[in-house]
Amino acid sequence: MAIQRTFSIIKPDATARNLTGAINTKLEAAGLRIVAQKRIHLSLAQAQAFYAVHSERPFFGELTEFMSSAPIVAQVLEGEDAILKNREVMGATNPADAADGTIRKEFALSLGENSIHGSDAPETAAEEIAYFFSGLDLVG
Ligand code: CMP
Repeated sequence: MAIQRTFSIIKPDATARNLTGAINTKLEAAGLRIVAQKRIHLSLAQAQAFYAVHSERPFFGELTEFMSSAPIVAQVLEGEDAILKNREVMGATNPADAADGTIRKEFALSLGENSIHGSDAPETAAEEIAYFFSGLDLVG
């Protein structure tokens, strides 16, 4: 597998508890390089646009209000098989189902407040990276 890039968000529940460094340590230990990173506070409209694919889901309001409630850290991660590797280190979406040692198992509070987002496929990774970063921001 070639070197890939994926997109990651450290979510408001984690930034609020000062967990950015602890989460980054786990990402780096998994072999992922943080090649771009910025801390921003999304507006509700920006969160709704980012999660537009979920707009018909019953949890869309809860999700977008949460994601715009406090700062997030948006990141681009690079590494061998980065999309899958990142999903492995994040753990299952619901922390109750996440494996020991994963970010969500150790840090997430609930299905909604689950500390981290990661792209699920190469197409979504490219779209999500482009939503937050320009090519000039990516310094591998
Ligand atoms: P994420 O990887 O950011 O992608 C969509 C998010 O929706 C997901 O993580 C969860 O945090 C959130 N989510 C999924 N299902 C629910 C649910 N039933 N209630 C609240 N939030 C949810």
